[in-house]
Amino acid sequence: MILKGRNALVIGGAVGIGRAVCTAFAEAGANVAFADLGKPDDKASLLAELRAKSVDAVALDVDVTDEISVAETVRRTLERFGHIDILVNNAGITSSGAPIHRQDWDVWSAIFDVNLKGVAYGMKHVIPHMLERGYGRIINTSSQLAHKPVGNHGAYCASKAAVTALTASVAQEVASAGITVNCVCPGMTNTAMLWVGGAEFVNAKLAALPIGRAGEPDEVASAYVYLASDLAGFFVGQSISPNGGDVMW
Ligand code: NAI
Repeated sequence: MILKGRNALVIGGAVGIGRAVCTAFAEAGANVAFADLGKPDDKASLLAELRAKSVDAVALDVDVTDEISVAETVRRTLERFGHIDILVNNAGITSSGAPIHRQDWDVWSAIFDVNLKGVAYGMKHVIPHMLERGYGRIINTSSQLAHKPVGNHGAYCASKAAVTALTASVAQEVASAGITVNCVCPGMTNTAMLWVGGAEFVNAKLAALPIGRAGEPDEVASAYVYLASDLAGFFVGQSISPNGGDVMW
């Protein structure tokens, strides 16, 4: 129960890695507000799962590309819990991919709006509150593709490299005020997003992994629990990489 009594807001939390993070946080004793775009059935089932773990939980609607929507999500979380100890910016999208000379700029913009601006909005609206309290744990979801980009996915790789850089930049702004900002860079993880790139590409990548398989969302979520805990107080601006050995450093 290393998060006992903590209040967490997980943005992009209804399915996949975000959902596993919500579950792991609740199992570690945290109250969990989770926000996502649509997905009413997933939200209802997750809410029931979290409340069954004897923590407070609330499901919210958010579109991370809309700053007002993100601000409202933060306001409603504060209204419910009184304060926020932990923020996870996890919403993300990808595309089927294309080489840069065939890039569709609407797809490019959509990826950057969700993956990068969404993370920035989340931090912008929670940090003033964390500064007032002198405590906070912020964890952004980047990707191993920030460190080891692949071809045909320039927008996604660049957006995640930007999340890693943004994390390190903001971490320096707030570390002395008791707030840590770090990111998790998952490798290939068994969620709906994994297969967007196509089965042939994914299976070839999985076969080349040292561990020889995709990660499960709960194997990735444990990194968030650690970074959210007081055990990680000296981690500032770091990238943690649960990735089955694809990128080693
Ligand atoms: P997923 O597709 O299952 O989950 C993505 C979540 O983001 C969904 O809940 C979705 O509704 C939410 N979302 C998308 N657009 C949104 C918006 N405008 N506003 C609010 N929420 C929005 O995928 P997965 O795999 O769970 O992804 C979670 C994070 O992990 C993403 O940031 C992704 O880029 C990242 N990631 C995933 C990897 C994988 O292999 N699955 C590897 C590395 C990073």
